[in-house]
Amino acid sequence: MSTSGGKRAIEAVLIPGDGIGPEVSEAAVAVVEAAGVDVRWQRFEAGASQLAVHGTPLPKEVLVAIHAVGLALKGPIATPIGTGFRSANVTLRQSLDLYACVRPVKIIPTLAGPYADRAIDLVIVRENTEDLYAGLEHRVAPGVCESIKVVTEAASLRIARFAFELAQRQGRRTVTVVHKANIMKLTDGLFLDCARRTARDFADVELREMIIDNCAMQLVLRPEQFDVLLLPNLYGDIVSDLAAGLVGGLGLVPGANVGASCAVFEAVHGSAPDIAGKGVANPSAIVLSAAEMVRHVGEDATADRIVRAVHTALADPVNRTRDLGGDATTASLTRAIIAALGSGR
Ligand code: NAI
Repeated sequence: MSTSGGKRAIEAVLIPGDGIGPEVSEAAVAVVEAAGVDVRWQRFEAGASQLAVHGTPLPKEVLVAIHAVGLALKGPIATPIGTGFRSANVTLRQSLDLYACVRPVKIIPTLAGPYADRAIDLVIVRENTEDLYAGLEHRVAPGVCESIKVVTEAASLRIARFAFELAQRQGRRTVTVVHKANIMKLTDGLFLDCARRTARDFADVELREMIIDNCAMQLVLRPEQFDVLLLPNLYGDIVSDLAAGLVGGLGLVPGANVGASCAVFEAVHGSAPDIAGKGVANPSAIVLSAAEMVRHVGEDATADRIVRAVHTALADPVNRTRDLGGDATTASLTRAIIAALGSGR
């Protein structure tokens, strides 16, 4: 961070990403600029396009740059299914030790939907570095494959503490640890045990325990009961999309990957190849992620202003993109968000 002409400048890496990534991340850049935040973006490419040039979808220079400035906004990066290179997203999180994936899921009051009248306001805290994402898979024999689920005490205690501290900081009352320790007694059992041990240090935050399959049903039936959800990596990934569906879909939910010295902000959604290049992607999720980035560096008032502008823009059906049942384009919704910023509503 630096100061120029009395105005605080923020250094941040921008990775536009694949598919709809470049379209929506430019929207976020425009909104942040219109909000009056002086961000010096360092742009880097990552993803399939970099494989031929650098031999990896995540060139080392990207990691070095994020490590140096400590802050990034990232578009989605596609990962081939079944074959091909290892996920650049997983590599990024593991290389920079971005151990906490944080996804606030909140109903947008200006949008209609099946859950519009429900007070959904929860935060998903997902362990981001191990579990089945350790990438330890092998073929034991023809027709038999194994994937190793890694859960360590150190990582589980660290993410549990993160979840409880977040709950305390945000004045939240409960942390629900989600597990399948009835079946995976050692791995999920350790994750659960670490949550229980951590809870003893937080008298003002209650620990609840829930098995993942019940959690999926409870989220659909009574999502307002949840406050902070603490999950191992894979369950956290799946539950994030489920929760996004409750509040209007993947186009609306922001996220952050946080470590001790770096934070990378990104939407929950992927590269959406089905709509890439058509100019119809909803930019709200990455704009809200950018708002959380701005909040992360202490500009809370500006972050709140961006969030309000997104809600104001979405209140008018004319500004809703196809995923929300409208005809708006990425560009027209972005313009509406910027206009709402200007009107200060
Ligand atoms: P996806 O999130 O890209 O798309 C799922 C559905 O949601 C699609 O119908 C898509 O059109 C829609 N959607 C997503 N974002 C939207 C937006 N902003 N506006 C409007 N509609 C939107 O998930 P999918 O198809 O499973 O994955 C596609 C690729 O993205 C894969 O290669 C996957 O590995 C990658 N991916 C990357 C992530 C990341 O970089 N953090 C996260 C999730 C997936």
